[in-house]
Amino acid sequence: MKSYIIEGGKKLEGDVKVSGSKNASLPIIASCILNGNITKLYNVPNIRDTQITLKILRLLGCKIKKNSGKIEINSKNMTGKEIPEELMREMRSTVILAGAILGRFKEVTFSYPGGCDIGSRPIDLHLSSFKKLGIQIEEESGFIHCICDKIIGNDINLDFPSVGATENIILASVYAEGTTTITNAAMEPEIVDLANCLNKMGAKVEGAGTNEIKITGVKKLKPISYGIMPDRIEAGTLLCITAATGGNVKLLNVCSEHLVPVIHKLQEAGCNITISKNDIIIKAPRRLKPVEIKTMPYPGFPTDLQQVFGAMLTIAKGTSVIVENIFENRYKYMTELKRMGAKVTIEGKTAVIKGVKKLSCASVQSPDLRGGAALVLAGLTAKGKTKISHIEYILRGYEKLEEKLTKLGASIVLEEGE
Ligand code: UD1
Repeated sequence: MKSYIIEGGKKLEGDVKVSGSKNASLPIIASCILNGNITKLYNVPNIRDTQITLKILRLLGCKIKKNSGKIEINSKNMTGKEIPEELMREMRSTVILAGAILGRFKEVTFSYPGGCDIGSRPIDLHLSSFKKLGIQIEEESGFIHCICDKIIGNDINLDFPSVGATENIILASVYAEGTTTITNAAMEPEIVDLANCLNKMGAKVEGAGTNEIKITGVKKLKPISYGIMPDRIEAGTLLCITAATGGNVKLLNVCSEHLVPVIHKLQEAGCNITISKNDIIIKAPRRLKPVEIKTMPYPGFPTDLQQVFGAMLTIAKGTSVIVENIFENRYKYMTELKRMGAKVTIEGKTAVIKGVKKLSCASVQSPDLRGGAALVLAGLTAKGKTKISHIEYILRGYEKLEEKLTKLGASIVLEEGE
């Protein structure tokens, strides 16, 4: 078990480069299955989630070369159509591989995905969409077998703009006969990045970034090089940590357009923010002001930043309110924050946070990926030494977090333990 040991109370200062996006890398790595050729990807974060996805691709017969953030995937000789169960359990987005394998081979077998325990996280929208594309689905003993002679384009209306389901439909439809139209599609920037990558290969995906996406089937895709977009959630996390520690930081390699609601809420909380082409400078106020947040699908406030924002608001001057509308179980980190002196009450989707002047150090446990990042923020603001255990969750999604924070003046050490 790995832990972070944090000595809080240091203001973060300096500049830091944001890594490539985790949530864009995963479907884009999956898309490399489709061209049956070589794809060179740049700016891929070296984190547990990308490592697991690449491990699955290798087991399915892809050849992979890695050189820090550059990855070459050769899917020419890939034959595997079954995603190994133990790796499927490691993270939810392995389900994205199903759409890509189906698109290429018209057959895939997988089991229900695992991942962070932040709610029930069903995959009904993925499966019902596959059915609409003419794919037969059989479920037996926890395994899902999908097969068809050909994928046939169709109109699909999603009951909820699910990010994963939108990506899976796109991946499965690239070689379909005819046109697939997704209405009430998710509009996240990571979907635009996936569409841009596929279009560079020669696919025809139109409307990504809006709620109506049209995929016209093509016959062949070509080898390409593609650079992954910056991670907006890592950027948001670093902005909140700077704000909470009273710091002054410049983020490099960041797309401010992807962070509009986050920047607005930080400004409302009293932060001074300067935006230029690929950089954001944030200067924290002496004391943060309380704000109200409601998580929504993009372009609303992202659920993935609810936790770090929640942790930041525990030391604002006044009462903040958060409403979590996307996942039903995303407040576990609050139990840990209470150990550090946070004053929070939770009822259903709503958390009411009464700001305290300072948090105190404690031994806490990371409950999930973003909840773990929230605890890092809390530890960095608290007085004394905080130990965060189970940081494997955090390492799934943040590349070199402790190195980046140390460079900005934080005292944070990764400790290997039993
Ligand atoms: C993606 C992101 C995750 C982010 C989430 C919401 C990746 C790898 N992960 O996850 O970081 O928190 O979007 O922005 O990109 N739902 C169903 N049935 C389904 C699918 C989803 O009911 O078949 C529900 C989920 O339980 C959840 C909501 O829809 O309540 C949003 O899920 P979805 O948008 O699919 O999130 P993910 O793609 O899993």
